[in-house]
Amino acid sequence: MGRIFNFSAGPAMLPTEVLEATAAAMLDYQGRGFGIAECSHRGKEFEGVLDETIARCRALLGIADTHDVLFMQGGATQMFTLIPMNFQHKSADYLVSGEWSKKAADAAKGLGEPFVVATSETTNFDHCPDRSDWKLCDQADYLHVCTNETVHGHRMVDWPVDASPNLVVDASSEFMSRPHPVNQCAMVYAGAQKNLGPAGVVLVIMRKDMYPKQSKMPSKLWNFAALAENKSMINTPPTLGIYTLLETFRWIEKQGGLRTIETRNTAKAKLIYDAIDGHSGFYSAFVSRPEQRSHMNVNFRLPDEAKTEAFIKQAAAEGMVALKGYRTVGGIRASIYNAMPVEGCRALADFMGEFAKKNG
Ligand SMILES: Cc1ncc(COP(=O)(O)O)c(C=O)c1O
Repeated sequence: MGRIFNFSAGPAMLPTEVLEATAAAMLDYQGRGFGIAECSHRGKEFEGVLDETIARCRALLGIADTHDVLFMQGGATQMFTLIPMNFQHKSADYLVSGEWSKKAADAAKGLGEPFVVATSETTNFDHCPDRSDWKLCDQADYLHVCTNETVHGHRMVDWPVDASPNLVVDASSEFMSRPHPVNQCAMVYAGAQKNLGPAGVVLVIMRKDMYPKQSKMPSKLWNFAALAENKSMINTPPTLGIYTLLETFRWIEKQGGLRTIETRNTAKAKLIYDAIDGHSGFYSAFVSRPEQRSHMNVNFRLPDEAKTEAFIKQAAAEGMVALKGYRTVGGIRASIYNAMPVEGCRALADFMGEFAKKNG
């Protein structure tokens, strides 16, 4: 069977070229007779992979010497749990704009005094609170935000780099979908399973002056400075996952870099939002502020449950899968990360038009 259009929110579709190159390297790495998942992480093969992955990540994002690129395991959830353990001394600011930033703030609760600077929970997170409504604390150790809320489908068009000297960003579901101002952040992290590779790797960009601010942790596994000193290899890192990231970075570069990727993602998202707005009596966008609509996770509703179920079923029969919305939001969620081709978005938009005509 050929590859179909997979709109999963994550783990998500990866570019075919990345999968093919990774599969080949898994079977036989550069003619050595063994695969990249079958050699020591301390050997020259993987050392070369790690160096190139870091170098390409730095080049794509223009990361300055002030920041390190680290790889961790345990997912973005472990990361937003480790952040308050390490850096929340007195109190930390949290913007609660959706499911993931709420979970991050909740993780900080047991460990100190997180302060919610603003929340849109009363309207079921249908938007990101306006910057003018944020109540920031002068003394906060850091400000945590999630710049693309995967579940609710809205994004911050501009990262709030001037809101805190220590801005911490969960960019999991939009990482490398466009250029990011990483050098103006204290820390940026992203679980790999949306735009980068398979689940199991978290990419972290850490400003080096954050290391002295860390609490004493019971294990150096959770100590970012120790991780940096050991080139992300205190223990065996997820070698195959990191290799896949390398192939993804090579692929992004071949596409023309992050600006080109951003232009393509904007056009892809527009196809689907136009289909929603073009049949506004039938489809309704979940996000209440059009300017905040995510370019990665497009959420919309149909008039009722029966039509939603029929939509999902018929779309699957036409080769478009994983469109069911998250349980707290309902409706449809189409996740269209970097690997989703324009054709996939066009196919969905065309299908939406026909479905609305037949069922409206
Ligand atoms: C924005 C965001 N943050 C955090 C997470 C949690 O990631 P993980 O399951 O890897 O812990 C997700 C998962 O979808 C996410 O979308």
